[in-house]
Amino acid sequence: MKIAIAGTGYVGLVTAACLADKGHDVTCVDVNEEKIRLLNEGIVPIYEPGLDSLIQRNGVRLRFTTNDVEAYQRAEVIMIAVGTPPQPDGSVRLDDVWGALRRIARAAERDCLVVIKSTVPVGTGDEAARFLAENGRPEVKFDVVSNPEFLSQGTAVRDTLQAPRIVLGVDSDRAERVMKELYAPFALPYVVTDRRSAEMIKYAANVFLALKISYINEIANVCELVGADIQAVAEGIGMDPRIGRRFLRAGVGYGGSCLPKDANALYSLAASHGYSLKTVWAAIDVNEKQKWKLLDKARLHIGDFRNRTVAVLGAAFKPGTDDVRESPALANIERLIAEGAVVRVWDPAALEHVVRRFGDAVVCCETIEEAIRGADVCFIFTEWPAVLQFDLHRYKTLMKTPLVVDGRNCYDPKAAEAAGLIYESIGRPV
Ligand code: UGA
Repeated sequence: MKIAIAGTGYVGLVTAACLADKGHDVTCVDVNEEKIRLLNEGIVPIYEPGLDSLIQRNGVRLRFTTNDVEAYQRAEVIMIAVGTPPQPDGSVRLDDVWGALRRIARAAERDCLVVIKSTVPVGTGDEAARFLAENGRPEVKFDVVSNPEFLSQGTAVRDTLQAPRIVLGVDSDRAERVMKELYAPFALPYVVTDRRSAEMIKYAANVFLALKISYINEIANVCELVGADIQAVAEGIGMDPRIGRRFLRAGVGYGGSCLPKDANALYSLAASHGYSLKTVWAAIDVNEKQKWKLLDKARLHIGDFRNRTVAVLGAAFKPGTDDVRESPALANIERLIAEGAVVRVWDPAALEHVVRRFGDAVVCCETIEEAIRGADVCFIFTEWPAVLQFDLHRYKTLMKTPLVVDGRNCYDPKAAEAAGLIYESIGRPV
């Protein structure tokens, strides 16, 4: 099938590469000339395991352009995978979605499906359908589909090729038939519904994950008070299939470009209809407080941070990505700098973003050893494999004081104690 994809971010590029891998002919279009230039030179502008090789392998079926006509004129399916960034009031900015719709309306010359993959407020698909009917060429019939994306950064290719379900929000038989033809080579189960429900599924899914994380973080906080171990508790409840094992890792809270944004957006959406989503508000509130747990724990040992040398391991919001959006690490680095600490940061993928954000205010380190040498305290914000595999004795030998405050429960507290560390983690007996 001839497909065009607007937006070459995580969702757009991964979807394009996977569809090309299944034999479709895909043209990616972006208004950012620099990104398209890099892609045409074979350079993938984002860090996503497995994506480079998938793009290389499917070079003949994948094109990158800034030219709308080239992408949209003859496409049978046009997917919109542009960003919908958060606004200060919690709602999302849809300028790029509307920009793409305007360009599609101008350039499309054959009947086609316009598929919204970007996370958009409920009702956007209906508005898009009205807009295209009014502004597209009169002879062209547009079918608008909501096909939300559930891929996670770091495992995006696998998540797309082996998704638990493909959600299709359609309002015509033709749209359903073409979408099923498009995804037939994936051999995955479908949930077929109306557009509004499909849009809602995306929010309800992401925010459910946020709720799960905030719940386990609160239970971890109570575990600390009553002397229970959150790891055992999470395992014990997660084995019940009604609860499920995943997203029960206690830590310093959820970050990234999706969970925080979607929780706020769903809250604002409900509020705009006069409904107060209390569970979602609680998840957001708990997450905000959880972010500062590590600093509070360290203060109990060292008082304040003025002139203290502080090592920060991990800046990305999770391992396997260079993305620092809403990363608890960055918020903490900012606070540590403000409180007078000398901050030394290590991250295997995201240091460039740390430099961009903090410049000379932090010392960026190539290795964990370099970051922790002479430090008064070491904070762990991201459970990168190099942190998990790090020899615990090295903290003791390299740090000034071997105080390790671990926000991702990377180590066994007994092993840490045996290695001579003063070790604090989340929701586990000291
Ligand atoms: C999330 C969803 O998991 C995807 O299904 C969705 O498609 C995506 O948003 C999106 O809307 O595009 P992502 O933001 O890549 O994916 O990251 P997650 O793996 O969900 O992690 C989010 C945050 O939760 C991270 O900061 C992670 O450290 C934290 N987390 C996750 C925990 O603190 N505990 C857990 O048990 C799991």
